[in-house]
Amino acid sequence: MSLLITGASGFLGRRVLESLEGYPGLLYLVVRPASMAQARRLYGDRKDVRLLAGDLRDFGVLTERDHIDELASEVRGVLHMAASYDLRIGASQNYLHNVVGTQNLLGLCDRLTSLETFVSTSTIAVAGDFRGIFHENMFNVGQGFPNPYASTKFRVEGLVGAWKTEVRKYVCRLGILVGDAATGRTDKIDGPYYLLRSLKRHAPLWRALSVFGRTPLPFHPGAPLHIVPVDAVAAVLARIARQPAFFEGRWRTYHLSGPAFPMAEFLERSFQELGHRTRLVPLPRGVVPPALLPRLGIPASLQHCLYSEAQFANHSLREDYPDLSLPLFGDYAEAFYRFVRSDEFDTIAGGGA
Ligand SMILES: NC(=O)c1ccc[n+]([C@@H]2O[C@H](COP(=O)([O-])OP(=O)(O)OC[C@H]3O[C@@H](n4cnc5c(N)ncnc54)[C@H](OP(=O)(O)O)[C@@H]3O)[C@@H](O)[C@H]2O)c1
Repeated sequence: MSLLITGASGFLGRRVLESLEGYPGLLYLVVRPASMAQARRLYGDRKDVRLLAGDLRDFGVLTERDHIDELASEVRGVLHMAASYDLRIGASQNYLHNVVGTQNLLGLCDRLTSLETFVSTSTIAVAGDFRGIFHENMFNVGQGFPNPYASTKFRVEGLVGAWKTEVRKYVCRLGILVGDAATGRTDKIDGPYYLLRSLKRHAPLWRALSVFGRTPLPFHPGAPLHIVPVDAVAAVLARIARQPAFFEGRWRTYHLSGPAFPMAEFLERSFQELGHRTRLVPLPRGVVPPALLPRLGIPASLQHCLYSEAQFANHSLREDYPDLSLPLFGDYAEAFYRFVRSDEFDTIAGGGA
């Protein structure tokens, strides 16, 4: 009944490990040697956890190979969450961690003779610049990708799909993860948090950009926003890992993106919550000089989300897990903004522009 897990020290992984408390088997965590001390702090007290040193970039993955026999007889499921989406490390490093890393993991999985299920975390970014409703069974529709993270995650899905195995494969495409639904707390500043940090940190500049109570901003007025609290996604992933549904075919994809929320409404509310009384004027793509947003502490790569026109259907998830749902932004927005307004947010958001 045991699980082999990658990415357990990450933002999502830590919450998944909480949700897997009481799992009726051992949880083997693949941990990079440099992260071992942190993993011991996080999981040293848990009787159900075994830490295995390893790095997905290494052929064979595990530092010590003598665990293979134990893993082969014990491990029934793999939960693959490790990935890199640090856009600063460049395309080849992203490729190494994500694509080569998954390839190496699949090689290890081929040796796990009791393995029945493989759950992989992907992202709705694999839809790239697709416009319209992206269904769970859609994959390669000729979409273009705004960054190496999205294109490598797309390739990872392709690898998992093409993997010749009897193991049942589940690909979970996640929306943009934000802080805990109840407390709003996050320790990861990316996605929408860049804008929120900028609205706090560069408040005078934003005020200067406002003319007659109107602020021009690059976004598509009809763009949907797919954000979802990390704890809610973690609970769903843990459930899928515990109770993988049966299905016909080679792999099953689920969209864990949460209900779409109008981008325009999110942006308006974010400005108001952070004290900017203004109306937003959407600017068409290409009008804003590429250097402007980075000067406000917002990575240029975020522009893609501001113009995204993809919606994500989740029929397979609802069919296989009818009792599961992810919260609407309105349900946790108060906690979300309360945390963003706090000093703790400023401390966490300390680094960067
Ligand atoms: N966060 C989001 O908004 C979001 C949205 C959509 C999808 N996802 C997906 O969700 C998953 C988890 O994301 P996250 O936000 O939790 O990421 P994260 O906080 O950056 O954590 C990444 C995890 O992957 C591990 N890792 C990275 N490279 C590795 C390697 N070469 N070998 C072994 N482990 C490695 C890291 O280990 P160390 O502790 O050693 O660094 C860490 O545990 C990823 O697959 C990501 O693509 C995330």
